Amino acid sequence: MSKPNPYHPVSIVTGASRGIGSLLCEGLLKTGAVVYGLSRSGAGLDALVQKESGEFIPNPIDITQPSEIEQFYTHLDENQQTPAVLINNAGVGFYKHAENLTLEEWRTMVETNLTGTFLMTQAAIRRMKPHKVGTIVNMISVAGRQPFRNGSGYAVTKYGLDGFTRVIREELRKFKIRVIGVYPGATNSTWWDQIPGSENLPREKMLPPEMVANAILNALAQPADVVTEEIVIRSIHGNY
Ligand SMILES: NC(=O)c1ccc[n+]([C@@H]2O[C@H](COP(=O)([O-])OP(=O)(O)OC[C@H]3O[C@@H](n4cnc5c(N)ncnc54)[C@H](OP(=O)(O)O)[C@@H]3O)[C@@H](O)[C@H]2O)c1
Repeated sequence: MSKPNPYHPVSIVTGASRGIGSLLCEGLLKTGAVVYGLSRSGAGLDALVQKESGEFIPNPIDITQPSEIEQFYTHLDENQQTPAVLINNAGVGFYKHAENLTLEEWRTMVETNLTGTFLMTQAAIRRMKPHKVGTIVNMISVAGRQPFRNGSGYAVTKYGLDGFTRVIREELRKFKIRVIGVYPGATNSTWWDQIPGSENLPREKMLPPEMVANAILNALAQPADVVTEEIVIRSIHGNY
């Protein structure tokens, strides 16, 4: 007789230490979920451990390192846990005219926003498929739908992630795995604290990060046979 296949569902959020990812973790914890939060620095993750409901498990890993992703999923397997929700939220951006972008900046964006997301997703799909359930959320951007000056390298990753998202949505339909693409406009998160020259941007006119997190949490709360395929969300003030 074959062994029963245990299903202990967990939610995984990359880029959980701050910004939109941290708010997504808080929202998932309120639903009582077991949430694995991934990011390179541990400090922001530790704050989430204190939350009252659900269970938060911090994982200080770098998604540009394939071996760290592999170790993470091995840990889930050993604990008989299966990803029910994967939110690929981690991302980085360097904004410059194309001729000034360094190779290192280009590679960091590609390896984080595209390759890291691909590896996180591939490992999740392999574990979701046998159970015929799961939701994958990819944090793209309006910069993956329209051109913005200074954003050539970032656009490559977000247009690429848009394509990846659309294809896997079709591949995974018959396995009842939902794939959601999220396209926020400028959002007033910690993102902008690290962008040189962003001091002059009207941060107060940007989207509050809570609104982006809420839109995703609402989509996740839909019945399992309903998929909100795309969430395009901007501040009423539009783009900057
Ligand atoms: N803010 C906006 O205006 C905006 C608009 C549209 C789309 N987005 C997208 O939304 C997502 C979240 O952005 P945010 O605004 O919340 O930015 P944020 O405040 O800068 O947060 C980014 C998160 O990604 C994590 N991260 C970066 N590199 C990582 C790596 N190699 N491995 C693991 N974690 C990594 C960071 O943690 P560590 O540094 O500790 O690793 C941090 O937790 C990004 O994908 C971004 O492209 C943002």
